[in-house]
Amino acid sequence: MTSDGLFPLTDEHKMIRQAARDFAQNEIAPIAAEFDESGDFPHKTIRKMGEMGFMGIEVPEQYGGAGMDTLAYVLALEEISKADASHGAIMSVNNSLFCYALLLFANEQQKNTALRAVASGEAIGAYSLTEPMSGSDAGTMRSRAVRDGDHYVINGRKSWVTSGPVADYVLLFTMTDPEKKHHGITAFIIDTHEPGFSVGKKEPKLGIRASATSELLFEDYRAPVQNRLGEEGQGFKIAMTVLDAGRIGIASQALGIAEAAYEASLNYAREREAFGQAIGEFQGVAFQLADMKTRIEASRLLTYNAALAKEKSKKSGQRFTLESSMAKLFSSETAMFVAHAAVQIHGGMGYSKELPVERYFRDAKITEIYEGTSEIQRLVISRLETGLK
Ligand code: CAA
Repeated sequence: MTSDGLFPLTDEHKMIRQAARDFAQNEIAPIAAEFDESGDFPHKTIRKMGEMGFMGIEVPEQYGGAGMDTLAYVLALEEISKADASHGAIMSVNNSLFCYALLLFANEQQKNTALRAVASGEAIGAYSLTEPMSGSDAGTMRSRAVRDGDHYVINGRKSWVTSGPVADYVLLFTMTDPEKKHHGITAFIIDTHEPGFSVGKKEPKLGIRASATSELLFEDYRAPVQNRLGEEGQGFKIAMTVLDAGRIGIASQALGIAEAAYEASLNYAREREAFGQAIGEFQGVAFQLADMKTRIEASRLLTYNAALAKEKSKKSGQRFTLESSMAKLFSSETAMFVAHAAVQIHGGMGYSKELPVERYFRDAKITEIYEGTSEIQRLVISRLETGLK
């Protein structure tokens, strides 16, 4: 039993969840360990996800997407991440960072080119805010874009870009007017096939190893003015607005990881015997399962609630920052809690690469770090609650 009965799931929601579940279990789960080991990008399955409409779920059909709502997106992402969090990361960035930004801020020409290509899954989108010396303090970036006639000349180094090595388009945030700090940041849609762009160091990661992550290098990259997203100086606002949506994606990814780790633990606790009984009969294990299940259902409520808040915002224009940050904070800490317990319940087998449990443990950790660490979520939530800074 899950708590999803509390939410208004339509036939369409149930259908996309089932389609994602079938695809994830039949086509992603069997290859997840192999791609985790090699660290290769799973081009084939990501392409198929594009064909199934999973790479631009909320984008209207006229721009190449599936034209569904945020709850549909969350349900599908949860199922994909349950099979493999790497596929979940790629899907999340494509949908809720790249596509959502263009949906909100792009002009018609940008929607008909970059958005259409990325939402349909023909091209891959990435989001690039972080730099080596600017992570949580996102307003302090060193990369620069200088206007030169009808172009901007961009120089600098970005880091930790999910899908960076394979992206066709990157939503880049860079400084056009350093004196203005936050208000001097501008967003650009970068075509990565143009000169001046190159992929830097590939990050050797603990988890989500099949999702390519790298630095990006800009050396006199010339971005035409028509590839600027929004106005000069609007970049920080765009970055933050879009991260509100991205954090719902990470909450869904974390929920999927937690569910996978929990189900493995439940089965193991029923089957594995020690001292003449199933280990699930020992209170030490049983109570752990109870805590895991309770936290998962609480995460689900927060995550689906954030999805509904985002859906509402499409009409009201109201921010859903609080709902999104709470969902991300709680779900990611739940994923880590559940995966940690899952390894312990499995004992030696939890530590072995013969089972996926150790992968869930490694994959869970990133959800507490990227798209705003747990500390940043606590800062966002407490500032909104107290009204203080
Ligand atoms: N929506 C819209 N606007 C927002 C906003 C939001 N959620 N949050 C802040 N803003 C606006 C503020 O209203 C303010 O605007 P004005 O100056 O016009 O009044 C402006 O942004 C500055 O806000 P703050 O003063 O609150 O900014 P701050 O410097 O204190 O930073 C922060 C706030 C919450 C710490 C922010 O910097 C933050 O979220 N940091 C974490 C960044 C992050 O998540 N990075 C991950 C990058 S993506 C990634 O992980 C890689 C990947 O590929 C997935």
